[in-house]
Amino acid sequence: MITDIINKKRLGKELSYHELDLFFNGYLDGTVKDYQMSSLLMAICINGMTEEETFALTKIFIDSGDTLDLSFISGTVVDKHSTGGIGDKTTLIIAPIVASLGVPILKMSGRGLGYTGGTIDKLESIPGYRIDLSDEEVIHQVQDIGIVITGQTASLAPMDKQIYALRDVTATVSSVPLIATSIMSKKIAGGADKILIDIKVGNGALLRTKKEAEELSSLMKKIGKIYQKEVRTIISDMNTPLGFCIGNSLEVEEAIRVLKGEEVGNNLTKLCIDLASELVCMAKAVLLQDAQDMVLESIRSGAAYQKFLDLVKAQHGDLTKLSVSRKYKVIKASDSGTIEKISAIELGKLSVALGAGRMTKEDSIDYGVGIQLLKQVGDMVKKGDVLAKIYYTKLPHLQDFKNIFLIK
Ligand code: URA
Repeated sequence: MITDIINKKRLGKELSYHELDLFFNGYLDGTVKDYQMSSLLMAICINGMTEEETFALTKIFIDSGDTLDLSFISGTVVDKHSTGGIGDKTTLIIAPIVASLGVPILKMSGRGLGYTGGTIDKLESIPGYRIDLSDEEVIHQVQDIGIVITGQTASLAPMDKQIYALRDVTATVSSVPLIATSIMSKKIAGGADKILIDIKVGNGALLRTKKEAEELSSLMKKIGKIYQKEVRTIISDMNTPLGFCIGNSLEVEEAIRVLKGEEVGNNLTKLCIDLASELVCMAKAVLLQDAQDMVLESIRSGAAYQKFLDLVKAQHGDLTKLSVSRKYKVIKASDSGTIEKISAIELGKLSVALGAGRMTKEDSIDYGVGIQLLKQVGDMVKKGDVLAKIYYTKLPHLQDFKNIFLIK
């Protein structure tokens, strides 16, 4: 009985493969209802899952759809995933870098939900950019130019799509075993040989502690081993937003500046160099330092930026039509001192209030709005200095900026 399974998990007991299969596939065919699945997900959030349960559920998710066979691509195919953060446009930067170095990358990305933005929404801010490539188009493009960034096809781990949407509205996203199942089922079904996961920790991330991030890292590596996939992880900070821009068109513009080598030394550029180097190191089996030299040279020579242009052209995007709202409001420092904190979560909330993100799946996005920070943590400011520009179409009620910038 379905309720027996919920009760068993409520009591903190281990569910068998058969019970998980019955319950989750029952949800897909409609015999298990939303309220029953929500109840089981909450019991999992509270009582956790054993490794055996997590491995079983990952297999059930993978088996709910197709698995891509990428053996036709010569060379090691890599994939990268982030657990999500504020201002996270790393895919737009890393994918062209590694592709420009001859490492094929086929990235199926998602939309943003909650306060975190999604790569697909950012790419859709480029008028014309197609995110719905067919399997044949994906294959041709990766063979032609070595890079594809498209939306997740409906046939890959469809169970994750349905369960994730429910988790998002039932406060059951932040569970280490559920996150591991969700990410790894998509990555394994996606067919790449080697997978790099950027696990974010902080107030703007799903995970708030380093301990949880380490648990997730270890679990994902164990799942990778079962499917003979090398999985590496990087644990990175998400208390402060990544880079200076939050909002779709603004983030594409910022990604272009990083690819052109115009943004040096900030947290976004540093993380992109680390992630891209790790991917090149995995794919080419070279030392990490050598991989980093190759990454820096691909930016310096313009090869990475050219690869981004090739990608946008291949997917019919027109960068000349990328636009940011002309209306903006400046935010000034209310005190003099040093910026001690710029809150990722508060900026995430503000970006959603502006219309740059969505709180429900049905919300539409205003691509031209967002926030551009003009200062970073550690900068000294004087009262009245401009801290940020807020690009808007319709200005929401703006609360006290002391929640966002802590100046001491
Ligand atoms: N990203 C995913 O794809 N799934 C999760 O559960 C969390 C982050």
